[in-house]
Amino acid sequence: MGKAAVLRPVKVLATRRLPGEAWEELGPIEIGPIDGRRDDVEALVVSGDIVDDSVLDRLPALRLVANYGVGYDNVDAEACRARGVAVTNTPGVLDAATADLAIALILAVRRRVVEGHELIREGRWGSSWSEHPFLGRDLSGARLGIVGLGRIGTAVAKRAAAFDMHVLFHRRTHEAAAGYRELDDLLREADIVTVHTPLTHETTALLSAERLALLRDGATLINTARGAIVDEDALVAELVSGRISAGLDVFVHEPRVPEALRSLPNVVLTPHIGSATVETRAAMTRIVVDNVLALTRGEPLLTPV
Ligand code: 8YV
Repeated sequence: MGKAAVLRPVKVLATRRLPGEAWEELGPIEIGPIDGRRDDVEALVVSGDIVDDSVLDRLPALRLVANYGVGYDNVDAEACRARGVAVTNTPGVLDAATADLAIALILAVRRRVVEGHELIREGRWGSSWSEHPFLGRDLSGARLGIVGLGRIGTAVAKRAAAFDMHVLFHRRTHEAAAGYRELDDLLREADIVTVHTPLTHETTALLSAERLALLRDGATLINTARGAIVDEDALVAELVSGRISAGLDVFVHEPRVPEALRSLPNVVLTPHIGSATVETRAAMTRIVVDNVLALTRGEPLLTPV
């Protein structure tokens, strides 16, 4: 049977084409914005796009929202459930890539890699290295506090062990395991804090102004999860004061980044690239495609949330 014949029963709308070979298996599907009312769309492929009641109202035939990403805070899963619309995400395949970026940001901030890079680019490197000693801090021996020890947090812990860091962690379910800390204690103790929780009602502004104030002087905050897990205004104030440093891949209103952060030497910024490798993005596409194909075949979805 040809691909088109398999797919004809389900009308798919994707807000963008996703990278990787698997995409071709969907055949010639519609790619574009979710505009106006659409009575025909049964499967919607989104990538960070908001899917709330107002979108669902306009897609009465919808049966599946396939989200390109493990975090699905952009999708109102409750509203979908109430309408019998399934939601899938892309868990498991982006843990290594995201953990790698967290480590990259730790290294970049603690060893002042970007400051050094800019010095050279701007032709400011003088004759003597001692004018710009760029003293950083060792990873080896540093206490790394992991907030959220799920798949990605665990992948970060594995890498941190290879750098001889002392790993502390906090997770929602209290446990007596070595390294476990209450959140406030973790923030007080850690030299570096890295955030790996999903964004939910419970984790919105989890790192509030009060909690950020618990961080040690000279501590580093790494966020590759979601901007809104941290009180961004309070974080900006702490960073402007120079009391702490940060490596940030995510922001509350992407692609807007608070203006004050752009010129700070103690901040390294990346544009939400945690999962952005050729291999990982292709693996994420594979999951999205397999979920859509499962719907067309009447089979169970692979990764329902
Ligand atoms: C994606 C992500 O870049 O998986 C996630 O939760 O944030 C990233 O992998 C994003 O979902 C694409 O919009």
